[in-house]
Amino acid sequence: MKILGIETSCDETAAAIVSDDKTIHANLVLSQLKEHKAFGGVVPEIAARAHINHLDTLIRAAMDDANINFNDLDAVAATCGPGLIGGVMVGMMAGKAIAAARNLPFIAVNHLEGHALTPRLTDNVEFPYLLLLVSGGHTQILVAEDVGCYKRWGTTLDDAAGECFDKSAKIMGLPYPGGPELEKIALECENTEKAIKRFPLPRPLMNKPEKDHENLNFSFSGLKTAMRNHVEKLPSGDLQRKDIADLAYAFQITVADVLTKRCHRAIQRFIKTYNPTNPSLVVSGGVAANKTIRNALNKLAEEQNITTYAPPLHLCSDNAAMIAWAGIERLQKGYSDPFDFKAKPRWPLDPTA
Ligand code: KG4
Ligand code: ZN
Repeated sequence: MKILGIETSCDETAAAIVSDDKTIHANLVLSQLKEHKAFGGVVPEIAARAHINHLDTLIRAAMDDANINFNDLDAVAATCGPGLIGGVMVGMMAGKAIAAARNLPFIAVNHLEGHALTPRLTDNVEFPYLLLLVSGGHTQILVAEDVGCYKRWGTTLDDAAGECFDKSAKIMGLPYPGGPELEKIALECENTEKAIKRFPLPRPLMNKPEKDHENLNFSFSGLKTAMRNHVEKLPSGDLQRKDIADLAYAFQITVADVLTKRCHRAIQRFIKTYNPTNPSLVVSGGVAANKTIRNALNKLAEEQNITTYAPPLHLCSDNAAMIAWAGIERLQKGYSDPFDFKAKPRWPLDPTA
């Protein structure tokens, strides 16, 4: 079975062909970095127009890469939310049009389910597994019980981790997109212990007792404000690269610490609730590309005797292979969607959360 996957929910136009034996025949991602750079962030209207301009060509290129034509497809899957509605509409309508013209099943994929199921494309992770989803728009702890069946145990009460990376990077004068740039400059920090002492940063919600639904939630807006305060206290004029490297290091360690502390609690609850034979922690989403965060989570998993899975970097950030794969998993369960399926700007994985 071969599926065309389409992803247009943010600033990446992506098309991929994946088959049910987990072969990725094509996986093309066209980043709109240049289009948005001057604005220091994603401009929804520009993103939607760029998707319109590039999507057809990209789908054709993916078909060429995979050396197939439309007759070889078994279904079409497209991200139908959550995300920037203009962009989502572009990919969804293209997917529906191809499916309608070829009389193929159409699968409306939740972008978050794409991230959530990626480790089943790259590794043979069995349900249930614990999932830390850390991207530009989301920071959630979930249990993936099955395809289409997720329990959300925690979420951010304000900014997402990736958003906090991006906004903090901007405050420090780093170019867009901030997350990877911040990671890069943090490598230049020469004295890590001194950096942490020099720039103390808050860990919001970390000391809350484990008694209510908030116990696995996150909050990152206070961290962003603390970053702004530190930057404002630095000598005026051009910020010194050395200072920024120290601050970036302190920031990264703080985020890694917050994420691991929450995951520690979640692992204990997961094992108690599900008593899984092979407990697994999956880390997915763009921020999962960060090596400090990956290393901290790997260390925690080792201590807790739980296996971690993090997709390779190019499948951590937004791509269409994950959408095609989610389409395959859904189709195998017998799920497909009507052509009047409506794009959803908000679409929680756990509708009861
Ligand atoms: O999953 P993703 O590609 O898109 C969303 O669905 O949001 O995640 C993008 C986010 C951005 O905030 C970006 O700055 C962050 O992931 N990111 C990183 C790194 N690479 C991407 N954050 C920290 N370190 C990185 N290396
Ligand atoms: Zn994403």
